[in-house]
Amino acid sequence: MQANKLPSLLDAPLSAGTRVLLALDLNVSCQDGKVTDTFRIEKVLPTLEYLSKKGCRTMIISHMGSDGSRTLAPIAEFLKKTFKILFANSLSEAREMSATLSNGEFLLLENIRREAGEMANDPELAKRLASLADIYVNEAFSVSHRAHSSVVGVPKLLPSFAGFQFIEEVEKLSTALKPIHPSLFVLGGAKFETKLPLLMKFLNRYDRVFVGGALANDLFRAMGVSVGDSLVSERTLDLKVVTENPSVRLPLDFLVQKGPVTVVTPPEALGKGERVVDSGPKTAEFLAELAAESKFILWNGPLGEFERGFSERTLAFARAVAESGAHSIVGGGDTISAIQSLNMLEKFDFVSTGGGAMLDFLANETLPGIEALKK
Ligand code: 3PG
Repeated sequence: MQANKLPSLLDAPLSAGTRVLLALDLNVSCQDGKVTDTFRIEKVLPTLEYLSKKGCRTMIISHMGSDGSRTLAPIAEFLKKTFKILFANSLSEAREMSATLSNGEFLLLENIRREAGEMANDPELAKRLASLADIYVNEAFSVSHRAHSSVVGVPKLLPSFAGFQFIEEVEKLSTALKPIHPSLFVLGGAKFETKLPLLMKFLNRYDRVFVGGALANDLFRAMGVSVGDSLVSERTLDLKVVTENPSVRLPLDFLVQKGPVTVVTPPEALGKGERVVDSGPKTAEFLAELAAESKFILWNGPLGEFERGFSERTLAFARAVAESGAHSIVGGGDTISAIQSLNMLEKFDFVSTGGGAMLDFLANETLPGIEALKK
């Protein structure tokens, strides 16, 4: 998709006092009321600076956590270091507070998913939100796979624009739809059902497609290889089209948990009571070779149970991609955490803020939030 077809924030008619409704994805890790991961926030700072310099009065909407239960208060504290920002606990409070905003200032509304109707895309909520602004800016690419009120409802009612980061996401991810060769696509993590459409699409676009993480368990199971007690999709899927495709590569060995110990085993040796938790050293070597032979690498999803601390092969692959010299595009929460822990973010050509949004964009070449901006 061509990003230049999107209305850009650069073309928005802004002047001192323009009321802007700005959708951001401030759903970041926090601990003890403090922000612990600034990646997504840093990506939108140029937009905040731009709006502030233009003298706009900007109301920020975002979510935190998958439902309404978590608070955005730590983000307000974090942003206060750089911007003048008020915090409203509810939309009705925001309505009153917005009248007190001065030019260049911000108002952050508490978790929008607390507002009834947000996730159901209730037009009434969209109307209430739109009534507080002159224009709408979507700078929340990573939420734009959700057909929520603040993503698709509001742009129907206001002149709407894509933020700088949003446009960069569309531009950079679009290059992964037509990779230069030799190309490597590495897909890890779990939830085969949600990743299968993308995998199918890229089987014939990438020279090599490596499937790792829990996704590989499904493929081994589909080939009749026992995966012991490893994590697999609930539904048994017909994956012949994947397992028989010549570009597909699978782990050569696994790190397997058996009671209190972990051992390295080849795929065909798994039995009852054994669970794959990471790939093994042969796989790491093989992946490093694939990376070194590639000119373009697209990577989403960890190669092991990263969130349970089995991160060794994911980290090794991050290093291999960084050292490969290939053009690299990566995304997904755990993948980014791995790269951050190595302090290597700047070694990748593009790190997407999107998890599900990145996968949906690559699979469908658009998102509900993109379509809403084009109308
Ligand atoms: C994400 O973390 O991927 C985005 O913030 C979207 O969150 P969601 O999956 O809860 O919609």
